[in-house]
Amino acid sequence: MAFLSDPAPAEVLDMGCGWGELLLRVLTSAPQARGRGVDSASVSIDRARQQAMARGLLNRATFDSMPGMEAQHRLADAVICIGASQIWGPPVEDAQPLDYAAALCALRALVLPGGRLVYGEAIWSATPHPAATAPLAGRDDEFLTVDALREQIRAAGFEVVDDDQATVQEWDVFEAGYRDRFTRWLEAHDDDHPAAEQVRRQYEEQRAAYEEGYRGVLGMAYFCLRG
Ligand SMILES: C[S@@+](CC[C@H](N)C(=O)[O-])C[C@H]1O[C@@H](n2cnc3c(N)ncnc32)[C@H](O)[C@@H]1O
Repeated sequence: MAFLSDPAPAEVLDMGCGWGELLLRVLTSAPQARGRGVDSASVSIDRARQQAMARGLLNRATFDSMPGMEAQHRLADAVICIGASQIWGPPVEDAQPLDYAAALCALRALVLPGGRLVYGEAIWSATPHPAATAPLAGRDDEFLTVDALREQIRAAGFEVVDDDQATVQEWDVFEAGYRDRFTRWLEAHDDDHPAAEQVRRQYEEQRAAYEEGYRGVLGMAYFCLRG
């Protein structure tokens, strides 16, 4: 947040913004800045717009529901891309290695000279093993280590100002929140609902995938970069 909002930017761009939470927080702390969020999921964009309206930011924030590849023409002095490198690579369902280099090259072109990028992406934080990769893409080369990613970032022409990684405790909270959707559904429906067995199975598969699989292996790295 501090890196993105101090000194205050003029234009903030969030590629793959989801609900736009980070973008809206930056706009709140930089009252002169304008922001644009781009995401292909219209449900997320609708929610981002509602949040912008609720916080009185709709006059400075625009949210576009579109493929990120089509949003390349408007540069910004502060750019955010967290967990959305797939915009510039093969579809996730193709189970190919994440194309960090393509993402970093495209992001480099979106950052005005001297501008900032906060880039967050999945990494291997420990050596991947079969139980960890099985519920993901099933391959050891899906992600990079943080050191290999830092090299790619520098090769793309960015200066690394700071970096950080999500802790296992933060992952635990994230995964518990993700599984909550199943718990809430089960609480709201009778045990003998026709879909209940499937929802129970989804909960258990997700719990096992994480706790017996990629916990402590799949990581998330965040970089504060200067263009
Ligand atoms: C892991 S989520 C991250 C969301 C947000 N940046 C955050 O940190 O909460 C990845 C986001 O990228 C979006 N996305 C995936 N492919 C995309 C594409 N081709 N164009 C635009 N957005 C895309 C998804 O809809 C999703 O909201």
